[in-house]
Amino acid sequence: METSDNNTDEVPSDLKLRDEPLAPTDVTVFPDGMGKRAPGDRPSFEGLREQFQNLLFGGVGIEVSALGFPPSGENEGDGGKKKTRGSSAAGEKEEQFRSAREKIRAFNQKPKQIRDYLQRFVIKQDEAKKVLSVAICDHYNHVRRCLDHPEELNMDYSKPNILLLGPTGVGKTYLIRNIAKLLGVPFIKADATKFSETGYVGNDVEDLVRDLVRAADGNADLAQYGIVFIDEIDKIASSPELGKDVSGRGVQVNLLKLMEDTDVNLVAPHDIAAQMNLMMSFGGRRRKKETINTRYILFIVSGAFDKLNEIIRRRIDATTIGFGRPGKNECEECLNQVATEDLIKFGLESEFVGRLPVRVACESLKKEDLAEILRASEGSILRQYERDFEGYGINMHMNDAAIDDVAALAAKEKTGARGLMTVLEALFRDFKFHLPSTNVRDLRVVAETIANPRKALEEILRMEILGEVAANPYA
Ligand SMILES: Nc1ncnc2c1ncn2[C@@H]1O[C@H](COP(=O)(O)OP(=O)(O)OP(=O)(O)O)[C@@H](O)[C@H]1O
Ligand SMILES: [Mg+2]
Repeated sequence: METSDNNTDEVPSDLKLRDEPLAPTDVTVFPDGMGKRAPGDRPSFEGLREQFQNLLFGGVGIEVSALGFPPSGENEGDGGKKKTRGSSAAGEKEEQFRSAREKIRAFNQKPKQIRDYLQRFVIKQDEAKKVLSVAICDHYNHVRRCLDHPEELNMDYSKPNILLLGPTGVGKTYLIRNIAKLLGVPFIKADATKFSETGYVGNDVEDLVRDLVRAADGNADLAQYGIVFIDEIDKIASSPELGKDVSGRGVQVNLLKLMEDTDVNLVAPHDIAAQMNLMMSFGGRRRKKETINTRYILFIVSGAFDKLNEIIRRRIDATTIGFGRPGKNECEECLNQVATEDLIKFGLESEFVGRLPVRVACESLKKEDLAEILRASEGSILRQYERDFEGYGINMHMNDAAIDDVAALAAKEKTGARGLMTVLEALFRDFKFHLPSTNVRDLRVVAETIANPRKALEEILRMEILGEVAANPYA
């Protein structure tokens, strides 16, 4: 970037302070804080920038930089000549971006490899793992081909955007998070409820794409291969028939363009600070419009879709007689038979549903599955508790019977795997408070601990006071 002092010709007219420059005399430090300059000189952009920064952020150390663009000194145009404080960090970042992009280019995963990776973390949900693995491979193979052969861009391509259905806490978000981690692509998760049709009250749907750029550390190039995950999509269904708010319809319509192929401005038109920031970052020179295209961004939406199974059941009932009909308790399996018409009846727009060709339901988790999560998932919440105790030098171990009991209690919560955290939190609260201040180094969690945690803790503390820790069955 050129330094601001020899850049005065490029001051845009709206920022000119005077029409006629005064005759230059001595170089002075002006009290406006805009740098050393001759009385007739216009204030430098660095100075202006600093002023704005102070004005906006009160000099609290926030660097003014436009979304997606580095602070001055790291801008395009300096040709990497100007060494700044952050230049080595910027170099590292650049290297990271390049390797992330190369990773996408070198994508050669097979669906089974992705499924196997997911097995390490996610218990059950076999159908979802299979469907997701295939869709992800198809999409990133296409992205790779387009990167290698840009002429493929002209070919028709329907993105395999995904609709994930299923009750709460069964691993919908967890599946996608793990996929994004495996692929190393930028990933963001948002709740559909935070958007409003106009963007005046809630967020604008285009903010999703800008958030993705932020998740990619400001690298728009990388962000265009990312994954946008929108949760609670069922909450923007609008069906006056079913008593649902009609404003969700507008949000669905706004999402349509985004889900296919559109250019999104990197700086939100309503974000005054970012707009000013953008102007300052580039020394006031007009740059070409900075946008990101959504062609390669994969959209995955998910929701619990309460009562959708009733709609599906009614449809199946109407078309099947006798044995083919699903029983009342089989309703859950109905979710996997969801058809476009069911989703439209539920309150989604047909154009919206049409852009979600890949649909799969996650099953609810039974107590055996919850126990399996505690035992086998690499992301098991039990590991987190073990680590918490480890932090105090306490070795916690939960035996099989206790794991089964925790799972049974969690299943009663009816919040899927989230119930495990609720149960463990209540169980260990007092242990975590008292034990770190004792000499207890081993905590064995057995069925009795689960049945009566208070008694178990009292026993440990009593034994500890008596110095009989070794004789304690819990420790
Ligand atoms: N099938 C599973 N296997 C292993 N862990 C799971 C599974 N399902 C959920 N979990 C655990 O529970 C947590 C919450 O799950 P997740 O966020 O995926 O729920 P969800 O299905 O997206 O629910 P919601 O509809 O409420 O958003 C995860 O972070 C993970 O630790
Ligand atoms: Mg979720």
